[in-house]
Amino acid sequence: MTESATSNLEARDVASVLHPATNLAAHREQGPLLIDRGEGVYVWDRQGRQYLEGLAGLWCTALGYGEKRLAQAAYDQMTSLSYSHLFGGKSHEPAVRLAEKLKEMAPFDATKVFFGNSGSDANDTQIKLIWYTNNALGRPEKKKIISRQRGYHGVTLGAASLTGLPAQHRDFDLPIERVLHTDCPHYYRGAEDGESEEDFASRLAANLDALVEREGPETVAAFIAEPVMGAGGVIVPPRTYFEKIQSVLKKHDVLLIDDEVICGFGRTGNVFGAETFGMNPDTMSVAKALSSAYLPISAVLIPEFMEEALVDSSRKIGIFGHGYTYTAHPVCTAVALRNLEILEEENLYEHAATVGRHLQQRLCKVGEHDLVGEVRGVGMIGAAELVEDRASKKPFDPARGVGAQCARFCEQRGLILRPLGDTVAICPPLIITEAQVDELFDKLEGALDDTLDWLSTTA
Ligand SMILES: Cc1ncc(COP(=O)(O)O)c(C=O)c1O
Repeated sequence: MTESATSNLEARDVASVLHPATNLAAHREQGPLLIDRGEGVYVWDRQGRQYLEGLAGLWCTALGYGEKRLAQAAYDQMTSLSYSHLFGGKSHEPAVRLAEKLKEMAPFDATKVFFGNSGSDANDTQIKLIWYTNNALGRPEKKKIISRQRGYHGVTLGAASLTGLPAQHRDFDLPIERVLHTDCPHYYRGAEDGESEEDFASRLAANLDALVEREGPETVAAFIAEPVMGAGGVIVPPRTYFEKIQSVLKKHDVLLIDDEVICGFGRTGNVFGAETFGMNPDTMSVAKALSSAYLPISAVLIPEFMEEALVDSSRKIGIFGHGYTYTAHPVCTAVALRNLEILEEENLYEHAATVGRHLQQRLCKVGEHDLVGEVRGVGMIGAAELVEDRASKKPFDPARGVGAQCARFCEQRGLILRPLGDTVAICPPLIITEAQVDELFDKLEGALDDTLDWLSTTA
C-alpha cells in the first residue's frame, strides 16, 4: 500500500470498522489506537511508541508476540494440508494429537474433545451438549444453567446469556430462557459487616442451594464458573467457595462447567485454575492461551457419560448435528499443539508461578495507594479497584470514567492495561520477566499518581 493510502488510517477506521466492546459514540471522536507490531511482551503503535502489553492482548497472548516457532508451525501446516474438516468422520493428525494432549492435561477424566473457534462458541457448545445429553438421558426438563453475576462467558446468544454483565444483555433481548444468575463471589463488595471469607462462601452456597430448590433440582442441569472471574473485574473466589458450591451441585446432581478460557494454561500458577481452587469439573472450556492467540481455536472437553449419550442419540437421530467449518482447523490445531509443547519445553508453567509470586508482591504494594480500595489476584492475573474513599469503599461516580482515565495515563507511560469500570486489570504474557513486572508496576504506580492529580483538578 502506498503511503497516502495508509495515511489517515485512523479516519478510515472510524469510517469503516465496527468495534467490539467499545463506546461507539466516543470512538467517533477519539479514533483508534493503531497497533503496528509486537515482540515479546511489547507492542508498538504506528508512531513507533512502545507499550508493555500488560493484559496479554485480551488475556490471551501467553507466549507473547513474534514467536517464530509458532509462525513456522503454521507455515509447515499450511504448506502440507492447509484445510481439512472433521465432518462425516474425516480427520487429520493435528486434530488427533491436540485432542489427546488436552485429555492428558485435563484436571478430570475427559474422554472427548470438541474444537471450536472462540471461547464464546465453546460455551454455546457446552449449553447445547448438556441439553442434548439430558434429552438423551430421558430427562428433558433438566435444562437450566446457572451462571453468576459478573461472570463473563462470551457474546454469542448462549454465552452472552451466561455472561452476568448488563451491557451484554441490555437491548440485545438477553438472557435467553433457562439461564439463571446467582451471586458474584466478590468478598470486598459482597460480604456483610464482620462476615469472614468462609462465612461469605457459606452464605453464597446456601443462596445457590435455595435457588436450585426454588427452581426444582429436576430442572437444573449445570452451573458454569470461571475459576477467577476475568472480564467481570478479576474476582478471586473467597476461601472455601468452590468446595461449598460443589457440595450443593453434587447434592442436586448439577454439573460443573469449568470455563478456563482465561485461567487455563498457567495463568493462576497451575496449568488449570481448577487445580488452584480445588474445582472438580465435569466439563471444561478452553481457548485463548491454548494457541497463545496466534490463531483462533477453542475446545470443549467432556466426560464419558456425555460422550455415550451423544453416541446413543446418533443411533436415534442419525447424525450429531453440531460443528463448524473450522472445527479442528489443521493450521489452528497444529499451532496450538506447538504452543503447548513450547509452554512445557521452556518450563513456562513454573516460570509463570515464580514470576506470578513477584507480580502479587508488587500488586500488594499498589494496594497502599490512596486511590486503591482493593487489590486482588493470583499467579499472573490481578487487578486494582479504584475508589473515591478507601475507608468506606465508596466507589467513584461511573460517569467520571476514572478507570478509563487511569488506563489512558498508563498508555501515556507506555503500558497497556484494561479498565473494567474502575477496576484496572493486569494479565501480562506468561513469558514476562521479573524486571518487566517491575517496569509494569512502576508505570502503573506513576499512572495512579497521574490519576490522583487529574482528580484533584476535575473534582
Ligand atoms: C472466561 C471467558 N470465557 C469466554 C470468553 C469468550 O471468549 P471469546 O472472546 O474468544 O469468544 C472469554 C473472553 O474474554 C472469557 O474471558
